Amino acid sequence: MREQAKITVENGNVIGTVEKNVFGSFVEHLGRSVYYGIYEPDHPNADELGFRKDVAELVRELGVPIIRYPGGNFVSSYRWEDGVGPVNERPARLDPNWRAIETNRVGLNEFATWCKRVGSEPMMAINLGTRGVEAALDLLDYCNHPSGTYLSDLRARHGYPEPHNVRYWCLGNEMDGVWQVGYKTAYEYGRLAEQTARAMRMIDPDLKLVSCGSSHTFMPSFPDWEAETLSHTYDVVDYISLHQYFENDFDNPADFLAQSMETDHFIRTVIAVCDYVKAKKRGKKDIMLSFDEWNLWYHSKEHDAQLQKEEPWQTVMHLLEDVYTFEDALLAGCMLITFLKHADRLKMACLAQLVNVIAPIMTDIGGGICRQTTFFPFKHVSCYGRGESMRAFAVSPKYESRAYSDVNYVESAVVQSEDGSEITLFAVNRDLENAIPVAFTLRGFDEFRPVEHIALECDDLKAVNTPADPDRVKPCQRIGSIEDLGGGAFTVGLNPASWNVVRFRKA
Ligand code: AHR
Repeated sequence: MREQAKITVENGNVIGTVEKNVFGSFVEHLGRSVYYGIYEPDHPNADELGFRKDVAELVRELGVPIIRYPGGNFVSSYRWEDGVGPVNERPARLDPNWRAIETNRVGLNEFATWCKRVGSEPMMAINLGTRGVEAALDLLDYCNHPSGTYLSDLRARHGYPEPHNVRYWCLGNEMDGVWQVGYKTAYEYGRLAEQTARAMRMIDPDLKLVSCGSSHTFMPSFPDWEAETLSHTYDVVDYISLHQYFENDFDNPADFLAQSMETDHFIRTVIAVCDYVKAKKRGKKDIMLSFDEWNLWYHSKEHDAQLQKEEPWQTVMHLLEDVYTFEDALLAGCMLITFLKHADRLKMACLAQLVNVIAPIMTDIGGGICRQTTFFPFKHVSCYGRGESMRAFAVSPKYESRAYSDVNYVESAVVQSEDGSEITLFAVNRDLENAIPVAFTLRGFDEFRPVEHIALECDDLKAVNTPADPDRVKPCQRIGSIEDLGGGAFTVGLNPASWNVVRFRKA
């Protein structure tokens, strides 16, 4: 057993409100995300529109309030008009980003309908790669204007008389990267995004707009990109985006799990740049952070490069079908905890993606479905992490990783529920060999009692779930792991290499 960690929380000492949109996700026209993912009309479980009901059920179980669509890289050459109107008249097009053929059988009307069915709302990305202000205004008119214009009446003729009222809009995607169709310099993007945002706000000043930030902290233009683009967009946007995917080229799982330190560094740096631009502009508002692509992405890369080279231009391509291990779930948990600790500025996040493509939900064509390992930390935080993120005084034993010093063995965050009646401690024990006792203290609160300790643990860091073996990695109830010492003091035992959700309720 290693020395204990200490986590102390004081009543009223709050970081910020955890916005529900931090539990967003992402559906891109990519691989089997849309087709043979959310949509599979020939599947025995399909509804009358062709959406898989078993997929919808798991999306509802995750509790996803907002879903980014239709890309991603895909959006940067997308013509939204291709995806509306009679399905048999919709054109098939080349998708240069993923070297696939897009059939357009699903478009924005179907997606908005599906979002309602799963209890979510769409966050629409617009194409600022090959297109610009005019197409963005047309899309906004078609989506949101009630009636009486050519495009809003066209929507009605397509069978959707009610406007979709899309509130959240991403101004392009990863425009800093050469892989992006129509990628831009920071100056070019900043000007275009500003012009697009100003024009969109002329139609609806209340839209929530996201300016594109860097695709990764490793981009050579980071963080100058943020400073330059925001110098144009500061007055007209609400959020700046962050994207981050982790790989695993480590021999040592402890080094792998330390990577969420980079998430923390990324968030802190972007906040600093936003505040620098605010100061330069003598501005009043804070730009909020939209971490609208985050995940691990490495299992499928070799396979995909070969497929795209040798058999491109298919309508169904098995791309980015990462099968996540138990240790991947631990790192995803560390990323989620990091988001909670920045609840004052991080107001939106999208797990990229939702189904089949680097996703918590995997399906077989015509067959079964499973919750990947990463499903569980996301579901737990989405379910128990809404409320006020508490500023905890946290001390943990530490280690040195390949890339970072002073990595906490115990990564933790604490949330008090919206109605104040529950407190939940989320914690990952990064120590692979040792259990760690946590001295958890609630100061100045009414009496709270332990309710349950849910944990994700496994004897094999590389264990995975598949539709054929869906329950290899699943949460368990820890019994006897919490000692109530009285007066708001508790000891909680965290097993080695574990994800933990420790719930307390007002007595
Ligand atoms: O989510 C997969 C891809 O990752 C997205 O299309 C792109 O924005 C990012 O590079």
